[in-house]
Amino acid sequence: MKKYYLTTPLYYVNARPHIGHSYTTVAADALARLKRMLGYEVLFLTGTDEHGQKIERASKEAGKTPLAFADELSAEFKKLWEVLGISYDDFIRTTEKRHTDAVKHVWIAMEKAGQIHRQKYEGWYCTPCEAFWPAREIGHDDAKPKVCPQCNRGLEEIQEDNYFFALAKHQDWLIQYIEAHPGFILPESRRNETLGFLKNNTLNDLCISRPKSRLSWGIEVPISADHVTYVWFDALINYISALGYPATGGRMQRFWPADVHLIGKDILRPHTVYWPIMLHALGLEPPKMVFAHGWWMVDQAKMSKSLGNVVNPVDVVKEYGIDAYRYFLLREVPFGSDGTYSDAAITLRYNVDLANDLGNLTHRTLSMMEKYYGGVIAPDGAADADHALRKAAEALPQTLEAACDRMMFHEALAEIWTVITLANRYIDDSAPWALKKQGKDAELMRVMSSLCEALRVIAQAVWPFMPASAAKIWHQLGLEEPDLVSPSFAKVRWNYFRQPTLVRKGDPVFPRRETILK
Ligand code: MSP
Repeated sequence: MKKYYLTTPLYYVNARPHIGHSYTTVAADALARLKRMLGYEVLFLTGTDEHGQKIERASKEAGKTPLAFADELSAEFKKLWEVLGISYDDFIRTTEKRHTDAVKHVWIAMEKAGQIHRQKYEGWYCTPCEAFWPAREIGHDDAKPKVCPQCNRGLEEIQEDNYFFALAKHQDWLIQYIEAHPGFILPESRRNETLGFLKNNTLNDLCISRPKSRLSWGIEVPISADHVTYVWFDALINYISALGYPATGGRMQRFWPADVHLIGKDILRPHTVYWPIMLHALGLEPPKMVFAHGWWMVDQAKMSKSLGNVVNPVDVVKEYGIDAYRYFLLREVPFGSDGTYSDAAITLRYNVDLANDLGNLTHRTLSMMEKYYGGVIAPDGAADADHALRKAAEALPQTLEAACDRMMFHEALAEIWTVITLANRYIDDSAPWALKKQGKDAELMRVMSSLCEALRVIAQAVWPFMPASAAKIWHQLGLEEPDLVSPSFAKVRWNYFRQPTLVRKGDPVFPRRETILK
């Protein structure tokens, strides 16, 4: 059986999850579901990033210990994933023993291999980003306050004795690796960003410890009782600690290298520079792909806790439903580009794509089935169908997988909607009501059975994106749920209905929304 290992970033537990966090996770979920449905053994990993100054500070403000605080927030993420129907296989917290043990192992292995040295660090640090910034990246005007080139917030000047991981000596290897593997960093714009950075700068060694005098909330450095591990060095290791690393068999052998790390574009550098070099230094292969998506914006600004413009996914779901939310996130913008969240945009998608196109197709088909055949779908009624609709439906598993392998979820959905549009047009063009009137029974049977077949394929195709709605349509077609997600989707065949099947037309799957909010 083929395997597929995909990951989301580990979310910081300094604040409640918002739309931006749910974006990566919803995309990963759709991909995981599609791969499972196509017969892969899937490992879908997510979790929470719980160490570091950000979290220590946030816990202090909340008057809690960092661990109690992390427990609470980590549970919030889990709760949201449950609401959104996220089918992760493993959830890792960086405070778990399986992770802290692996991190300690990495320290020792790297030290032995001569990859780590101790030295004084003087420079600028951004706490919100948990990142050091070399002087050349933050401008030289001493009159101006130093701000983070990434988030624009104030930098702190620090001076301390620390451990460093030698990045620079692997720089040429990384450049060559990226050049030889065009699919490693996607989209192309992000690949160019990383390559440009690597070609135009000599990498500074990465400071991977913090003195306990400044920060105590971290994984203790096994080679120094006075230091804890830098949060990024700690967190990136989750992608292998969850597989049982340092054990080399079992999940590690089966699933590494990861097929894809899905991330947001703000965390490109740790994932495409530090992480591959860390793996290389450990003698492990880089992941096959790192895909960086864009940001959800509100009024031109990135949605983020610090800007106070976050939209809570739970509120959106209450208003529009889980599946409409999932659909909107993945359909509205190409994964990789920025998107603007607004009620008007989601209402429009809901009414046009869901209520009109998919909802109407379902409702019209099932209503006519009831009217003309008492709801009974006859086996083999669509056998001789040789039309564009059949061809497009049969091609869906391949077209969906090809689009999702490139993380082009909006394209995958557009492919499904092409079939939905064809099916709706097929109703209009073949006018079943006229066939009925004219007594063209064989023709009517062929048209109606073909529509049921198309609807059946469409229900399966939308399942990774909208599992509950797909199940509703499936059920309304008189089918039983276990078959909905059967790996046989990979070989879609027309004439699926092998015995007379009674449709169960119920309420519309996507009732039209009357209001277009602001
Ligand atoms: N803890 C690190 C990741 C460590 S991975 C080993 C981190 N956490 S985070 O909680 O700040 O962000 C997690 C992810 O959420 C990032 O991929 C980030 O891009 C994404 N998003 C946060 N706000 C976002 C938007 N407004 N829009 C889309 N995604 C954004 O970074």
